[in-house]
Amino acid sequence: MRELRDRIVAEVSRVVVGQDEVTEQLLIAGSVGGHVLLEGAPGVAKTLLAHATARALGASFRRVQFTPDMLPSDLTGTMTLRQGELSFRQGPVFTNLLLADEINRTPPKTQAALLEAMQEYQVTIDGEPHPLPDPFLVVATQNPIEYEGTYPLPEAQLDRFVLKVDVSYPSEEEERALLRLARRGVASVGLDDISPVCTRSQWEEVRASVDEVEVSDEVVGYVAAIVRRTRALPSVELGASPRAAVHLLSTSKARARMSGREFVTPDDVAAMAPAVLRHRLVLSPEAELERYRPDDAVRAALDSVEVPR
Ligand SMILES: Nc1ncnc2c1ncn2[C@@H]1O[C@H](COP(=O)(O)OP(=O)(O)O)[C@@H](O)[C@H]1O
Ligand SMILES: [Mg+2]
Repeated sequence: MRELRDRIVAEVSRVVVGQDEVTEQLLIAGSVGGHVLLEGAPGVAKTLLAHATARALGASFRRVQFTPDMLPSDLTGTMTLRQGELSFRQGPVFTNLLLADEINRTPPKTQAALLEAMQEYQVTIDGEPHPLPDPFLVVATQNPIEYEGTYPLPEAQLDRFVLKVDVSYPSEEEERALLRLARRGVASVGLDDISPVCTRSQWEEVRASVDEVEVSDEVVGYVAAIVRRTRALPSVELGASPRAAVHLLSTSKARARMSGREFVTPDDVAAMAPAVLRHRLVLSPEAELERYRPDDAVRAALDSVEVPR
């Protein structure tokens, strides 16, 4: 699995400079069947990265730009009359990797349709369930700057994302390197050269092998203690849910696997904690006023829990 990870990261890095960690986080989430929220300023290659990763995985890819006037059926599909017969025309959600771009620009009704797909791995049209392809992974993006006319995702919906990954600006060296990449005008040309470096059965193997990673009682206790501590912090109004605990343990197992290990270390847990927990914590108004950040609260929880040895 480590070798597969290296191959995919190397393939993606042919078009995206310096975001290897984000690629790895996408693979970790994908290997546990979880969805990812990417947050970052416009133009830091969120779309490019999701697209390149889908190509390297050999998965089908669709991108949907969320807008204020988008309807649930624009996502899920509609019943159409064809030669006198009603038939279902699939919407863009029927794909392996769905890029839900700027998810906070669409009203709650369309967000809810996406939520159903994320949770149930199917969509229901006129009472008829339609199963989605397997694997089905949503990578949603949102802009961190509060724009007018956005609809922040409700906590219950955020909790469904296994990871929230912050995509940051490149370093100066990376910025120079990305300027050296081949382009046609302003368009990246590399995307077409990205070829699948993973087969479907290899990916199935990865998913199965993550479940077999061993977890000691000490590590289970560590995960539980971190999550419970977030609920007791004075800076936090709403702490992490039991679902967050499940997500923290599964992604820690995936991280262990990606590093070529068969057991989870406390280090895996501490490394995954920010991406697993940051979007689920609601800070107290006082902490917000002091510009305290969810990542600070995660740090505080990690610092105040004893690390098992
Ligand atoms: N790290 C990077 N490596 C290579 N190209 C980049 C990088 N960051 C930005 N770019 C360039 O900027 C463009 C914008 O990226 P895009 O994926 O549309 O950004 P976002 O979805 O974050 O708004 C890319 O197509 C690419 O040409
Ligand atoms: Mg984009």
